[in-house]
Amino acid sequence: MGKDVIIACDFASADETFRFLDNFTDEKPFVKIGMELYYAEGPAIVKEIKRRGHKIFLDLKLHDIPNTVKKSMAVLSKLDVDMTNLHAAGTIDMMKAALEGLTREDGTRPILIAVTQLTSTSEQRMQNELLINASINDTIVKYAQNAKEAGLDGVVCSPLEAGMVKDECSRDFITVTPGVRFADGDVGDQVRVTTPEKAKEIGSDYIVVGRPITQADDPVAAYRRCCAEFID
Ligand code: C5P
Repeated sequence: MGKDVIIACDFASADETFRFLDNFTDEKPFVKIGMELYYAEGPAIVKEIKRRGHKIFLDLKLHDIPNTVKKSMAVLSKLDVDMTNLHAAGTIDMMKAALEGLTREDGTRPILIAVTQLTSTSEQRMQNELLINASINDTIVKYAQNAKEAGLDGVVCSPLEAGMVKDECSRDFITVTPGVRFADGDVGDQVRVTTPEKAKEIGSDYIVVGRPITQADDPVAAYRRCCAEFID
């Protein structure tokens, strides 16, 4: 499995997205499409980005009863994305159902990864509001192990958690990690951040990078810098 940089295309419309992607003439970056863009533009945006030759991580974080998730994953599978995800909190049964739905007739399927605990959830809120009486790290590891047991390929987590997840699951269990910033860049609203170079050292398989590339004066140069630090 190759390491790669995934650009978070957090744009509100297809126009904005294509204006951004048109900057890339020599390479076809792996892109992440999230809820905002998907809800605004629907499946057509996925098909068009795919037609342009990009790999796609469709970040819709499904969480519902197993039957609903299975059927929804079967629909997403037809879009021919390369990676998609769900919430591990939906339980092992839901994750197994998702895999069944996602698997095409010929046995192929996109990479399926689980969200453990959102990085916006603090340990205090998790304990007080969700009544989960464990540490956040134990919860992340347990949810990752559940995802592995269900047959999923990996998890989304902070790069700072990637080493722990690999130690507790396995080296080939994929970690997809947002929260990446250049050493000399703006942190913005992210709290637990690390550089592409450090994410590589810790063992992330894919880094998800949004604003450091999308808001850069020269997005192509910023993307190339990420690749140089993370992959080369
Ligand atoms: O702009 P930035 O690099 O912070 O973008 C990070 C992307 O990763 C955003 O699309 C954000 O929603 C997503 N993400 C995250 N933290 C998570 C899960 C997803 O930042 N735990």
